[in-house]
Amino acid sequence: MPMQPWFPDAKLGIFVHWGIYAVDGVTESWSFYNGEVTYEQYMAQLDGFTAARYDPGAWADLFVRAGARYAVLTARHHDGLALWDTAHGDLSVVGHTPAGRDLVEGYVDAVRERGLKVGLYYSHSDWSHPDYPTVRAPEHARPEYADHPHSEPAAGEPEDPDAWQRYLAYRDGQVTELLTRFRPDLLWFDGDWERSEEQWRTRELGELIAGHVPEAVLNARMMSLGDYATPEQGPPMRAPEGPWELCMTINDSWGFREQDTNYKSLRQLVRHFAETIGMGGNLLLDVGPREDGSIPQEQVDRLEGLGRWISTHATAVHGTVAGLPAGHHYGPSTLSADRRTLYLICFDPPREFVALRGLRTPVRRVTVVGTGTELRHRTVGGIEDIPGVLWIDAPAPADLDLDATVLALELTAELDLYEGPGRA
Ligand code: GLC
Repeated sequence: MPMQPWFPDAKLGIFVHWGIYAVDGVTESWSFYNGEVTYEQYMAQLDGFTAARYDPGAWADLFVRAGARYAVLTARHHDGLALWDTAHGDLSVVGHTPAGRDLVEGYVDAVRERGLKVGLYYSHSDWSHPDYPTVRAPEHARPEYADHPHSEPAAGEPEDPDAWQRYLAYRDGQVTELLTRFRPDLLWFDGDWERSEEQWRTRELGELIAGHVPEAVLNARMMSLGDYATPEQGPPMRAPEGPWELCMTINDSWGFREQDTNYKSLRQLVRHFAETIGMGGNLLLDVGPREDGSIPQEQVDRLEGLGRWISTHATAVHGTVAGLPAGHHYGPSTLSADRRTLYLICFDPPREFVALRGLRTPVRRVTVVGTGTELRHRTVGGIEDIPGVLWIDAPAPADLDLDATVLALELTAELDLYEGPGRA
């Protein structure tokens, strides 16, 4: 399947990590894996997961206000708890939590109704499933599985093939449910690192997906069948090969943790977003709703702030591709799909001028995106085919954006850059 065109133009997606970990505010799944809490303590959170204020329409409205074009919800994390009414396995919010109902359905409908693409996160690994050969450190193994042949597989220990078959059947059953019931536009796999691609049977899984939803976009944790690269938390310094998406938390946690107040500021988020799209990627910004389904105000405010910046600068965001390589402009940039308008993003208020180097194409007009104010510009220097420097008058204070100002350069032809070492 060629990449769906909606994906590289989406620019912003919202990642939602929602699960029982929000009850006590512990790390999603990893807290019991790493022994921060026992498995029993972790699972005791089932009783506190109410979804009492869950309003998927309000979530989807917020994602629209944020300027997102897709959302990805954790349908099942490594802890094995399904957020939908699954007929496979024994662990879902329907039968095991006071929420008592399918939570994926409302999300899918609300997101889709508003024209956003629907993404579902699904972990290959399941650290609760009795047939899953967990790689949990032996000292944290669940006591009831102490004798289970695969609760703590020693290196080189042979697999129990029957158990593994059962596990794969369970996974395939769940993925089939997600595909047939929700027809996701994107499947965001995770937890691939515990097994080889052959063990996961990704080829068969890929065929299963293609048989139901051939247009579904798959992230790189679907291994060789992934459609796009999935860097996490650390911004790449050069664009990964092909389409890509940077996933990032809004504070330091994927799921809700009251004590984590280390929120990125709106300006930091605008920077991450601009730098990501300037390198041709999407930002998948994560929020963590409380156990009752409400999204903390700090997260709402940031999403809305980012949405304000995106809607003011929509022409520089949507319908654009990666901008200039480093060194031409000291900040990110994007380029219209016809390569005739260049958008320069300025994080700090420019002093006196914005200088652009190595631009061969003549510039017809420079305006401030959002206010439309035209800025004077002139090229100084250059020799033969080596261009001089384009000096653009700095925008007046009234034309500056609160978070990042964008200048639109209308070119007289397609962008043509000089990248050489200059003339001897
Ligand atoms: C990591 C973590 C997981 C989180 C994911 C999001 O893979 O295992 O907890 O959901 O990152 O990208």
